[in-house]
Amino acid sequence: MEAILGTCSPVELAKRKSFKWRTYPPDVLPAFVAEMDFTVADEISAAVRAALALGDTGYPHIGELGEAFASFAAQRFGWSPRNDRIFAVPDVMTGIVEVLLATTPHDSGVVINPPVYGPFFFRLGFISRRIIEAPLRMLSDGSYDLDVDALDQALARPDVSAYLLCSPHNPLGIVWNKDQLHTVAGLCEKHDVQLLVDEIHAPLTMPEARFVPFGSIDHVMTERAYVFSSASKGWNIAGLKCGVAIAGGRQCADVLAERWEALLCSHLGLLASVAAFERAGHWLDTVVAQIDQNRKVLTELLHDQLPGVGYVPGSATFLAWLDCRGLGLGDDPAATFLDRGRVALSPGVEFGEQGAGFARLNIGTSPELIAEAVGRMAASLPAG
Ligand SMILES: Cc1ncc(COP(=O)(O)O)c(C=O)c1O
Repeated sequence: MEAILGTCSPVELAKRKSFKWRTYPPDVLPAFVAEMDFTVADEISAAVRAALALGDTGYPHIGELGEAFASFAAQRFGWSPRNDRIFAVPDVMTGIVEVLLATTPHDSGVVINPPVYGPFFFRLGFISRRIIEAPLRMLSDGSYDLDVDALDQALARPDVSAYLLCSPHNPLGIVWNKDQLHTVAGLCEKHDVQLLVDEIHAPLTMPEARFVPFGSIDHVMTERAYVFSSASKGWNIAGLKCGVAIAGGRQCADVLAERWEALLCSHLGLLASVAAFERAGHWLDTVVAQIDQNRKVLTELLHDQLPGVGYVPGSATFLAWLDCRGLGLGDDPAATFLDRGRVALSPGVEFGEQGAGFARLNIGTSPELIAEAVGRMAASLPAG
C-alpha cells in the first residue's frame, strides 16, 4: 500500500470510535458501513488543526467551497458549475430530504432504482414520501442496467413527484454514461418529475470509467435538477459533516438559499472539504489506485476461496456487491458471515428486496484485511 494511505493496522483501527469500529465486538472484523480504513489526507488534517488552533469553531460560511468544488469538478470531470449555484449542506441525505420537502407534495411518490443505498428507503419514509421502485435489471453476466420500461412506467404514475438517481450507483458501482443520463432526463421531462441526482461516489470513479456529471449534459432537465456531491466518501470524512448541493437553475438555487438554516453544515467539515477539493487530489488518486488494485485482489480471493460467490467489479467506489445465492445461506448470508465467521458485511436486503441472497463488502482497506474478510467468510460455510 502507498505510504500516504497508512498501514490499516488492525490494532490502530480498533482504537477508532466511529460507527464502523464501535458497532460490533472486537472479535468482529467490520466491513459493512461505507467508511474507509485509510489515514486521512494531510491537507485535511492541517486545515482542521489550523482552525482549532485559532478557535475557529463557529458556524460555517460558504467561503471558498464553491470555487474549490467547481475547480475540482472542472479538472476531474470537465464540468464547471456556476459558483452561485453551489451550496453547502450538512450531508447528502439531509440535502435530498430538504429538497424533497420543499419541492414535492406530502405523501407523493419518489422513484428509486433498487438494489440501492438503504437510507433512500427509510429517510424518505420519515418525511412521508412513498418509495416507488423501478428496480434495475440484472443481466446474465451478473451486471445490472437501467430498466427503461420499468422507469418509464414508475415515472408515469400520477402520484409520483420525483426521481432520485444514484450516480455512480451504490452498491453496484455503475457509472452511468451520457446516453443513460439523457434517457433519464428525457423521462423526467416527459412525466414532469423533479430530478435529484446523488453523485456522492463520483470522486471514486475507477480508471477505466468516465464519470459524466448530470449537470454537464446538454438537456433542459439540467436546469431543473438538484445534484448532490461531497468529499465525505472520496476522502473519508463523513464524520466532519459537509456536503455540496448544486442547483441546476435559478429556481433550484432559490429553494436551497431559502432553506439555508436547515442546511447548515459543520464549519470544520466545510474547511476540510475545501482542502480536499482544492489540495488533496493526489491522496484521492492514490485511493483510487488502491481500490482498483483491491478489486483485483478480491476477484482472486473469491475465485480461490469462495468460487460460489458472484462478483462483478464496479466502476466506482469501494463497495463490492456479492451474489451469495449459490452458497445456500438463505436471504441474509451476511448473518452467517457474522455469526460464524465474525466478519460484518452489509446484508443485501438493506438495499431492497432484490438484495435477498446478496451481501455488500467494503474494500476501502488494505489487501491484507480484504484477505482476512474473505478468509472469515469462507470459514463460516458449513464443511463439505
Ligand atoms: C449513495 C449515497 N448517498 C448518500 C450517502 C450518505 O452521505 P451523507 O453522509 O453525506 O448523507 C451515502 C453513504 O454511503 C451513499 O452511499
